[in-house]
Amino acid sequence: MFKVFVTRQIPKEGIELLKDVCEVEVNDIDRQLTKQELCEKIKDKDAVITQLADAVDKEFFDAAKNLKIVANYAVGFNNIDLDCATKKRVFVTNTPDVLTIATAEHAWALLFACARRVVEADNFTRRLKWQGFEPMAFLGLQISGKTLGVIGAGRIGQAFAKMACGFNMKILYASNTPKPDFEKQTNAKFVDLNTLLSESDFVSIHTPLTPSTRQLIGKNQLALMKPSSILINTSRGSVIDENALIEALQNKQIYAAGLDVFENEPNIDSNLLRLDNVVLTPHIGSATLKTRTDMSILAAQNILDVINNKIPRTLVNRDILKYTTI
Ligand code: DGY
Repeated sequence: MFKVFVTRQIPKEGIELLKDVCEVEVNDIDRQLTKQELCEKIKDKDAVITQLADAVDKEFFDAAKNLKIVANYAVGFNNIDLDCATKKRVFVTNTPDVLTIATAEHAWALLFACARRVVEADNFTRRLKWQGFEPMAFLGLQISGKTLGVIGAGRIGQAFAKMACGFNMKILYASNTPKPDFEKQTNAKFVDLNTLLSESDFVSIHTPLTPSTRQLIGKNQLALMKPSSILINTSRGSVIDENALIEALQNKQIYAAGLDVFENEPNIDSNLLRLDNVVLTPHIGSATLKTRTDMSILAAQNILDVINNKIPRTLVNRDILKYTTI
């Protein structure tokens, strides 16, 4: 029987699908496994459902001698050495589409929280500091009618931008190539990154982490942004130079930032924790019950595809098809 290891607990729906035809072991310790623990668990497995915090590298592949598929429980796959996977003839899959709406909605949640100072106001209210209605307290920023800058117009970036239509916003986007259909649907304008940063009131990042997007937003880029602007990141922390962002927030060079992802997760720079003009969430972009359930089903379906000798439906390392007979 095909042996599957799941590195963290995930909604049961995907596990149930696998249980009919596989021997499934789920990590029952509610924490991330050390590399040594993980390597021990996967040594006789045919498939592993990994998380974005699992480093799926040479050591991982060397440990898993029977491995046929790594089903990453995330749309991003920057945690996986794809070349190594292909060399070892291991399929790598991700979970696109099913988390698009949840992640786009979370970017909006952060944008509203920053613009209307929701977290600051909540803390103030809880600490019983409120003495009554104050005409000048917690003045924030209006969102409607402003210019929204979207960096990366893939599935999530486009969904995020489409949600802006009800707020009568002008949309600018920067991406590798123009997207004519997206422009027709939203009136979005394709611009270069510097134009986007200098003209937008709110900027949201939706690029994957690749060598060309690592530290895409640094000191020089932040310097282009308006003092009244807000930066949102729900993609990967390393797309931003976090030290440069902290400095920009400390100096009020930008108005605020909403961050769901960080350079050294789960460690958060203590300077960020001290700032009022930042809203922080612990990488929960896809964290709705529906989405996480759909992610577990999709990860399982990819494994079932391999068992049934089919190309896994959301295959990432497509190069592997040159070497396999599926
Ligand atoms: C992803 O899928 O890449 C997200 O960051 C996880 O929620």
